[in-house]
Amino acid sequence: MALIELDDVRRSFTVRTRAGRFRRARREVHAVDGLSFTVGAGECVGYIGPNGAGKSTTVKMLTGILVPSSGRLRVAGVDPARDRTALARRIGVVFGQRTTLWWDLPLRDSYELARRIHRIPDARYRANLDRCVDLLDLGALLDTPVRQLSLGQRMRGDLAAALLHDPEVLYLDEPTIGLDVVSKAKVRAFLKEAHRNHGTTVLLTTHDLVDIEQLCDRVMVIDHGRLVHDGDLDGLHAAGDSERTLVVDLAEARPPILVPGARTVRVDGPRQWLAFPARESAAPIVAAVAARYPLADLSVREPAIEDVIARMYAGAVIG
Ligand SMILES: Nc1ncnc2c1ncn2[C@@H]1O[C@H](COP(=O)(O)OP(=O)(O)OP(=O)(O)O)[C@@H](O)[C@H]1O
Ligand SMILES: [Mg+2]
Repeated sequence: MALIELDDVRRSFTVRTRAGRFRRARREVHAVDGLSFTVGAGECVGYIGPNGAGKSTTVKMLTGILVPSSGRLRVAGVDPARDRTALARRIGVVFGQRTTLWWDLPLRDSYELARRIHRIPDARYRANLDRCVDLLDLGALLDTPVRQLSLGQRMRGDLAAALLHDPEVLYLDEPTIGLDVVSKAKVRAFLKEAHRNHGTTVLLTTHDLVDIEQLCDRVMVIDHGRLVHDGDLDGLHAAGDSERTLVVDLAEARPPILVPGARTVRVDGPRQWLAFPARESAAPIVAAVAARYPLADLSVREPAIEDVIARMYAGAVIG
């Protein structure tokens, strides 16, 4: 069953630009320019693309905040712009750039408001709050006013608020932006749990490919308001011939490492960077390096989304 359906959806904005000293010109920006896709119940889909591609505009239309200029849009059978109230019960939203929490109130009060707005039954509210507090480590923060929370704490608070009413669909617009490694890991683990154990359908916008790799089976790439890729992450890497990087810390400085399947692209003292095709597993390369060199540490770096997309264009594989 399709929970999210878009059929030739468009949204443009009229922006005024200066044209000379006194004249102002009007210009149409086609933020979303003929999008069609469906997302099935229980899917976790990455929604990526460069700055200004139209991702947030899409999420705002799916939430009912923005009305499409044309086209057909349905979320859980509801037309978001027409019936925002009916939709609100069935969706959860997190905008990483903006909080949905009450700035001056403690987290607990924002949750209490959500409970009333969504008329969440007591037992369910308590169970859900307990689960969120536990998984997102919110216990010590419940009585802190939101304005005093750090970015990572606030984001965790926002996630809990979005899920207290057990929404079928969750939109996440850059939920890991600006977070440190530990907070990112917490957010990802929480989302994994929500998706696996509660079957929540997730549409995730991010600039971090690790989010996609850890959470999504499917990734859609949007650029200039159009869908330019829809498939799995491996397919995206294949389309862009993208490379991951194995960062190797040797016990001591050595000449460039030589192992099959990877090439050494940089050496800095005991640290070396090995590039390998992103769709290949790192395991045989790690094993080969470990067998021949004394290792202190290892890590794998994902390519930047922007690089993958740029390479995709360079390969001109877009239909
Ligand atoms: N309210 C608005 N008025 C005018 N133009 C807008 C408005 N909202 C978005 N746009 C324009 O629409 C285009 C798409 O914006 P959108 O916010 O959807 O991009 P995005 O993919 O979310 O980018 P980012 O990765 O930077 O968040 C941009 O060119 C933006 O300037
Ligand atoms: Mg955005």
